[in-house]
Amino acid sequence: MIVQVEDAEKWIVHIKKFVNAFSWLQDSFVLDFYVDNHWSKLPKSWQEFLPTLTPNDIADLIDLQKNASFKTVPPLGLLAFKATVSVLSLSRTYDQRKLQRKYIKNQTEVHPEFRKLFHRHVKLKKRTEVVNTANILSGLCTETGSTHVYDIGAGLGHLSRYLSYGCNVETTCVDKVQCFGQSATKFDRELESFLIKKRITGASAPSHVCLTLELNKHEQYFEHLSHQFGFTGLHACGNLSSVIIHNFVNSPAKFLVSVGCCYMKMDGNGFPLSAAAKRHDLSFTYEALEVACHANEQYCERLRNGQVRKLMTHSYRAALETILVKKGIRRAGLRGVPNIETLEFQDYATAALSRVPELNVENSELTTPYINECVKDWFKVVIFYSLRLLSANIIETAVLIDRSLFVKEQAPNSNVEILPIFDPNIGPRNLAILCVK
Ligand SMILES: C[S@@+](CC[C@H](N)C(=O)[O-])C[C@H]1O[C@@H](n2cnc3c(N)ncnc32)[C@H](O)[C@@H]1O
Repeated sequence: MIVQVEDAEKWIVHIKKFVNAFSWLQDSFVLDFYVDNHWSKLPKSWQEFLPTLTPNDIADLIDLQKNASFKTVPPLGLLAFKATVSVLSLSRTYDQRKLQRKYIKNQTEVHPEFRKLFHRHVKLKKRTEVVNTANILSGLCTETGSTHVYDIGAGLGHLSRYLSYGCNVETTCVDKVQCFGQSATKFDRELESFLIKKRITGASAPSHVCLTLELNKHEQYFEHLSHQFGFTGLHACGNLSSVIIHNFVNSPAKFLVSVGCCYMKMDGNGFPLSAAAKRHDLSFTYEALEVACHANEQYCERLRNGQVRKLMTHSYRAALETILVKKGIRRAGLRGVPNIETLEFQDYATAALSRVPELNVENSELTTPYINECVKDWFKVVIFYSLRLLSANIIETAVLIDRSLFVKEQAPNSNVEILPIFDPNIGPRNLAILCVK
């Protein structure tokens, strides 16, 4: 979507109405499903209809690509809910050809040996993200006459390494964690000695800077650079994306590619950013921002391919929460338990509690009629969580529209677009804000 100020502000107004109407859903942590009786919050007609659906039906219901049809007619309110989410959400459907047409005109052909070495350290998910982002950045350098990219929150520097050695773009990695820069330098050297052996020349290594980028602090630094440059933040978590956007609009940077994550880590400095969102008093709870970091595509996949019993994990954890709450403990960090579908609740609970030996839970507490009832109702937890995932699309949309609007407010002549830049089944946080000043 190409961001236009007026449309985007209207969008925010509609989202605000939606959020007010469905806060009971967005703000309900699935962990509290039994403690707070989330099921009772659903309209009565939804409570009757939803348990008649199969896992496949639930997947169809939350899949915005699907015009689902069911054996019986769903409550109109439920249909309207899905239709509203669909209209108010940014599309997450990845269209490789569209991306290539617009942003990746000359896909870089990297040396096959380079690719092999690169793949050794980078998982499939990260590879796709890195390669697509690097190709877009390389294209934007050409389009804007820039030579340099600042990769903020670079982590282990995979993106910058690909950009430098694969696409021949000068890069600087900035990360607040020193050991990330050190590991990244080690990977750079390994790659460089390999390139020397293969007599591949021409590329220069990324620079590494250990720095916490802050609001209204580093903009001046970028003002004095002699080269043309752009910014990127790939999965820049919490406030970092907002800080990068601030630096982008307040510096001579030519372009920005911003992909966020961990929205719940934002505070008042990170959201809302735009005057429009502030005017409309747009705000979200921690719970709403947390669910916006999950992806319904992967959940749908599990619902559809016979893995639904793996999704019992939420129900088991929520049932255990009822026992812990009686002991005065809420939302404790417990051990993740694998292969949940093969376990009885007692076995799950024993494994989950093994990290907190001071927590004394008797076996008899794990087998009460109430707990048995909770566990029997596990599919209702899946249904409720599915509905939350559906509405999560709108929360993420609001966050990205707010960030984009801020850029338009501060740099009215900039082109700003929000686009899925990788397949959400591989990389769920796939929406990028692409800006050119
Ligand atoms: C989720 S990781 C993403 C790493 C990498 N871009 C990737 O896609 O794999 C976010 C990174 O941002 C860094 N970070 C967070 N806030 C920062 C700040 N204000 N300044 C610099 N780095 C920051 C963290 O240390 C972390 O390495």
